[in-house]
Amino acid sequence: MKPLIVANWKCNPTTLREAKALFNTVKNTGAVICPPFVYLSALRTTGAQDCFWKDSGAYTGEISPLMLKNMGVKYVIIGHSERRKHFKETDETIERKLKAALRSGLKPILCIDKISQIPKGIKNWKLKIGNLIVAYEPLFAIGTGKPYPMAKAQKMNQEIKRILGDDSPVLYGGSVNPQNARDYIRKAGFNGLVVGNASLRPQEFIDIVKNIC
Ligand code: PGA
Repeated sequence: MKPLIVANWKCNPTTLREAKALFNTVKNTGAVICPPFVYLSALRTTGAQDCFWKDSGAYTGEISPLMLKNMGVKYVIIGHSERRKHFKETDETIERKLKAALRSGLKPILCIDKISQIPKGIKNWKLKIGNLIVAYEPLFAIGTGKPYPMAKAQKMNQEIKRILGDDSPVLYGGSVNPQNARDYIRKAGFNGLVVGNASLRPQEFIDIVKNIC
């Protein structure tokens, strides 16, 4: 399987013009681009950064998984550590979002920094669990410029696969750059990468994609 590269733009850029320019430069990489919600309809990307756990209703400010699905979105990041930290998302709310995303036929990218964040009994859920993608994102490495040591990352990858099955795609995220991207795939055995900061610098992002091929 070709490695899955996910660009997490987070709360950037601040104008549609910049978003379009960035997207046009990287759209041929085949990566899943996750822009802020407000740019989704203009860019028609296949990824989003979050979703709510209900399909519709009186929930001011929320974006539902069904809305994303109906916009042509295929992948959605769930439980990113920044959502846990700044918006007090908990294992419980993240589990609800995860189930809702699966129910809507989206492929959720569940971000974890420890094994206990994989919901207990997930393999018995009566949902299309084959659509689940896990992203191992150690807190230590996110946005810090300090990539996680390769051997430790590889161990976590193996541990996650031991729980969810060898066929479960596991991505690595945390200070990925053009120099280390290839090793996370080839040496540590990840099935893809989540790229934050570097995804806002088009040449760097293109180099990451090139270097893993
Ligand atoms: P980073 O972010 O590449 O800037 O470390 C990764 C992420 O938050 O998914």
